Amino acid sequence: MLEIEDLHAGYGDLDVLHGITLRVADGETVALLGANGAGKTTLLRAISRLHPVRAGGIRWDGRDLLAEPPHRLPALGIAHVPDGRGVLRALTVKENLELGAYIPAARAHRRESLERVLALFPILAERRRQPAGTLSGGEQQMLAIGRALMLRPRLLILDEPSLGLAPKVASRIFDVIERIRGSETAVLLVEQNLHRALAIADRGYVLETGRIALAGSSADLLRNPSVRTAYLGM
Ligand SMILES: Nc1ncnc2c1ncn2[C@@H]1O[C@H](COP(=O)(O)OP(=O)(O)OP(=O)(O)O)[C@@H](O)[C@H]1O
Ligand SMILES: [Mg+2]
Repeated sequence: MLEIEDLHAGYGDLDVLHGITLRVADGETVALLGANGAGKTTLLRAISRLHPVRAGGIRWDGRDLLAEPPHRLPALGIAHVPDGRGVLRALTVKENLELGAYIPAARAHRRESLERVLALFPILAERRRQPAGTLSGGEQQMLAIGRALMLRPRLLILDEPSLGLAPKVASRIFDVIERIRGSETAVLLVEQNLHRALAIADRGYVLETGRIALAGSSADLLRNPSVRTAYLGM
């Protein structure tokens, strides 16, 4: 379980996160919502130890995550798919996926994980011998998620996986996230598409300028009048 307590972070003189408290239980899918610049990416990067924390705590299974260097996170079961993807363009799809299973615990299950990922994303199976750089944006996003799943993570952190994708392709991504739900992998999902995110998440948090403005079950958030006017255009 991930437990974030009164977390503060920023850039230089700029305070961006003003005391975030958030939890993701085992196997849960949690949506992190909010307007541009609210601090969503900063929070995800803080969890992954890619951005320094000024105050507050992050615990993972009771362990102080702030004491861990970023490279330890995969071995602790945390996989982060950043915004902007970052697949290795010169390597093939299959090589990219295999690289995802680089930690010993994941390597032991590499073949089985590869089959599972290729079943989740049949287009990647078709393209497995192709250099990743030749994939479309949507396919590269699928590959980035697939590579993270090769770690067999207990927490998958996704930063706007549908950003810039055509609705049909975004839909495929959401379908896969929905299929991850109910597995042993919890998901922390940042999305601008509130409707789709809350349709697949158990719970959600709405971040407004670095503070949690609202938190609740997906059903409660979808019914909430301020969510409906501010984010759903109703
Ligand atoms: N490297 C940086 N240096 C200075 N300020 C930054 C940096 N990265 C982000 N910020 C600022 O921090 C605030 C939060 O940014 P962040 O990227 O976390 O927001 P976000 O919620 O992910 O937004 P978006 O939906 O646009 O991705 C913004 O005001 C942004 O301008
Ligand atoms: Mg962002």
